[in-house]
This record gives sequence, C-alpha cells and structure tokens, in this order.
Amino acid sequence: MIKKAVIPAAGLGTRFLPVTKAQPKEMLPIIDTPVIQYVVQECVDSGIEDILIISGKGKRSIEDHFDKNFELESRLQEKEDEVLYTQLRHIESMANIHFIRQKELNGLGDAIYHARFHCGHEPFAVLLGDTIIDSVIPVTQQLIDAYEQYSQTVIAVETVPPENVSRYGIVGGDKLSDRVIRLNQLIEKPGRKQAPSNMAIAGRYVLTPAIFRALEKTPRGKGNEIQLTDALQILLKEEGIIASLIEGKRYDIGNKMDFLKTTVEFALKRKEFAEGFGEFLRETVDNLYNQKG
Ligand code: G1P
Repeated sequence: MIKKAVIPAAGLGTRFLPVTKAQPKEMLPIIDTPVIQYVVQECVDSGIEDILIISGKGKRSIEDHFDKNFELESRLQEKEDEVLYTQLRHIESMANIHFIRQKELNGLGDAIYHARFHCGHEPFAVLLGDTIIDSVIPVTQQLIDAYEQYSQTVIAVETVPPENVSRYGIVGGDKLSDRVIRLNQLIEKPGRKQAPSNMAIAGRYVLTPAIFRALEKTPRGKGNEIQLTDALQILLKEEGIIASLIEGKRYDIGNKMDFLKTTVEFALKRKEFAEGFGEFLRETVDNLYNQKG
C-alpha cells in the first residue's frame, strides 16, 4: 500500500517569468484553482494520505493555501455562502500536508533526497508540482496498480515527438505488455541521436526507498544538478524498474503555451463556462480566419 507522496515544488519557474518572480509557478491558477491543488487532489484520489511538499524560497503561499483561513471562513459563514465555505474547508482537510525547504536548488534528485526521513522504509509516490495530468483513473493510481503487480519502482512515461526528446528524461526497454515496459536505460535530456526511444518520463513516479541510497551515489549530471533520472539509472541495475505508459493527458504548467492550452481546455470542461466561453472561442477563431481569408 502506498500512503505517502512527495511533491517537489522548489524550482524557480524561470520559464514563466516575470509572473514567477515573486510567486510560485505551482500557485498559477487554472481558472480559479492553483496547479498544486490539482496535484494534491490526484494524490487524494489515489488513496494517498500523507504528502510532503518540497518547497523553497518564495514558496510560502503554497503553505498558506493549504492552511486554515479563519477570517475568510467566518466571513463566508456570515454571508451564508455555503458553496465557497465548503470549498475552503475541503482544501485545508484534503490530506496531511507537510513541508520541507530545499535551501539550495541542486536539482530534482536533491529535492527528493530531502524526503528520506519522511518516507523511511516505505515506497512512495512522486508527483511534479507543475504538472497536471487529466485522466479517468488518476495516473498515480495507475502507477500504484503497476507497483502492486510488479513490486518494483514504476515511472510514468508518454511518447513525445522525436524533436522534443531533449526536453525530457528518456527511457529505453522491452515491452512486457501494451502499456508496460521493463527498462534497461534512462537518460536525462539526451540529444536526438543518443535517445534510446521517444518515450519521455512524464512527471509521476512510484519509488522504492532504495532510491535514497542511489541518490547518495549520484554525481551531478545535466545542468550540474543531481538528476533523479541518473539515480534511477543506478537503481535500475540494483532492483529493476518498469515504466507504465500513461492513460491521460499531461499539461506542463511551467511552460506558457501549455498553460494557455490547459486554461482553455479546463474552462470548456466547466459547466458554468462551457457555453459562454465556447461561444467566445468560436467567434474569436472565426474572426481570425476571416481576417486571414
Ligand atoms: C523533469 C525530469 C525529467 C522529466 C520532466 C517531466 O525535468 O528531470 O526527467 O521528463 O521533469 O516534466 P524538468 O522539466 O524539471 O527539467
């Protein structure tokens, strides 16, 4: 049973400047809900009860978001706004959320290493705090199911266009079934020629606690940082790793184009916006084509 999750959320968000100058990218709203709340919801929907968020400088608003806000709650009660009041109460009671600060930004691997005392000897899930995956079965649940079947570290992967392999951790291996691959290689942000495939690590993992020993042996890699992918390559030799092809759509919110697309797609899924916003989009697109035509 996987009951703990780690959400790394200490990164600077340079790809989203200037809005991330004084505000965490994980708090960017998709309509009215910060990205990290979707990620926490995925944990909860996957049966996780205990979450450690790796935060850092300038990230305090994440803590405030999951804390109780008495003043706001009593104001909503006075106004008898049941809907908003219930939403606020939900956020503060979603899970047991803990925080630890990564004082120096030494990479994703180093961020995960900060979770060693929290996770102890238990396997745990990792969800990148700037990535939302929209799916029927939460992707973390998909990984937990695979972990229960194979009793090995499981990482979520998806296929990406060959020209994009250098943006991701890329894996190579042999297919065990339609959606499961036994890995024989992981490489962080390879060149197109070096890439063993076009299957990219998709920001969700279920790791065994042996990852912490592997991280201790991991030298600095890409970008002079301790890369989780490099530690996984060490773990692969010791324990084996499988990859699970995700069933769902991944949105990397740290990237402006993905953020825009996510906002539009999520708005169209919301009852209160679907019609009006859909109509607005149709008119905008029509105008665009009329101008071009
Ligand atoms: C991280 C991981 C990479 C993975 C990617 C998914 O990279 O290091 O292996 O493919 O997340 O988003 P980052 O995007 O933080 O540079």
